[in-house]
Amino acid sequence: MKDIFDKIKANMGPIGDHAKESHGYFTFPKLTGDINPHMDFRGKKLLNWSLNNYLGLANHPEVRKTDTEGAEKFGLAAPMGARMMSGNSDYHEDLEKGLSTLVQKEDTILCNFGYQAVVSAIDAIVDRHDVIVYDAESHACILDGVRLHMGKRYVFKHNDIEDFEKQMVRATKLAETTGGAILVITEGVFGMRGDQGKLKEIIDLKKKFSFRLFVDDAHGVGTMGPNGGGTGEEQHCQDGIDIYFGTFAKSFALIGGFLSSNKEIITFLRYNMRSQIFAKSLPLPLVYGLLKRLELLNKHPEYRTKLWEIANSLQKGLVNAGFNIGDTNTMVTPVYMNGSIPEATNMVIDLRENFGIFCSMVVYPVIPKGMIILRLIPTATHTQEDVKYTIESFSKIKDKLYGGVYKADKIREGFSQAL
Ligand SMILES: Cc1ncc(COP(=O)(O)O)c(C=O)c1O
Repeated sequence: MKDIFDKIKANMGPIGDHAKESHGYFTFPKLTGDINPHMDFRGKKLLNWSLNNYLGLANHPEVRKTDTEGAEKFGLAAPMGARMMSGNSDYHEDLEKGLSTLVQKEDTILCNFGYQAVVSAIDAIVDRHDVIVYDAESHACILDGVRLHMGKRYVFKHNDIEDFEKQMVRATKLAETTGGAILVITEGVFGMRGDQGKLKEIIDLKKKFSFRLFVDDAHGVGTMGPNGGGTGEEQHCQDGIDIYFGTFAKSFALIGGFLSSNKEIITFLRYNMRSQIFAKSLPLPLVYGLLKRLELLNKHPEYRTKLWEIANSLQKGLVNAGFNIGDTNTMVTPVYMNGSIPEATNMVIDLRENFGIFCSMVVYPVIPKGMIILRLIPTATHTQEDVKYTIESFSKIKDKLYGGVYKADKIREGFSQAL
């Protein structure tokens, strides 16, 4: 009989297999200091493009003050218990009302983790007769929700409406035989590529097919649309989104998430989402802090304007400097280059150690072999100087990459777990 631990030791997983060389530097790096574009990494101040602090609320003085006040007022333990049993409060309900207004839906349910909210909502909504149709590049929480589904699922090529229609034809045929219904799931903003889900096109197809649309708008809430109401607001089709998900982990700079829809559906989720019924509710100081964040988000559209100014000048500057940023049409800025994994790691070491820039790197197996993505996340707290310096530095590392400088093995020596 095998020992399950032996199996694990023999295969630590696609990323875990690299833990030895990457831990502490490429993975699990420790950024310290106040959350802003200049943070400490291994004793050095680096220009940081890796946090989804889109509106700059993480270290906003009013937010910091309110967070402290909330902890003092309620303690971190309150309320004790799940919402349904003993963990409800006026603050939770006020926040739900405010979020419903932000995303233009009738009702909202708060969730203690964004990831779990998506998994658990999908699990609650569909039964084995129903069919799920989802985008191939969906976030892991959607994929995990789909994995729990006991019925059929069809995946459509990323943002490919022709393929979406094809899968809808198959799904419709099947649902007619099972007596089930169809749930379509996609994202507002795809966090890796930065392209928007084709919500409007999908919603237009409601004329042709019968389905409900679930949109994970983790990156879009607070950033997209004139009022920060999300990608549906941006594309003028918020009404066509049947279930809207937003996280508190990005624009809101906290933790948790929410689901918004019409009253009956949210009531159903309140009484049927296992991750919320059987788990403690969001602590009161967090809810109190979220009310402040929501107030700031509503009162200061200029934070969003600033985010977009930074994003636009960063993206324009990169394109003018000859970089490929793919098909992003949001603030998420992937920079595509070609090279091996050792070259990518050498380039990132150079970027951090010599140029003082911190950003995340994506390589195989997340993307195809030979491709490198350096992913930049602009925020309202970055400056035009940060942008200028980054574009200049990126031009230099690109020349070094294509000049073969990063092929040398010795650059990587010493940048491993020992750190
Ligand atoms: C698209 C998307 N959905 C869901 C999540 C999960 O949200 P949370 O961090 O609130 O659990 C994320 C966060 O990385 C995300 O990017």
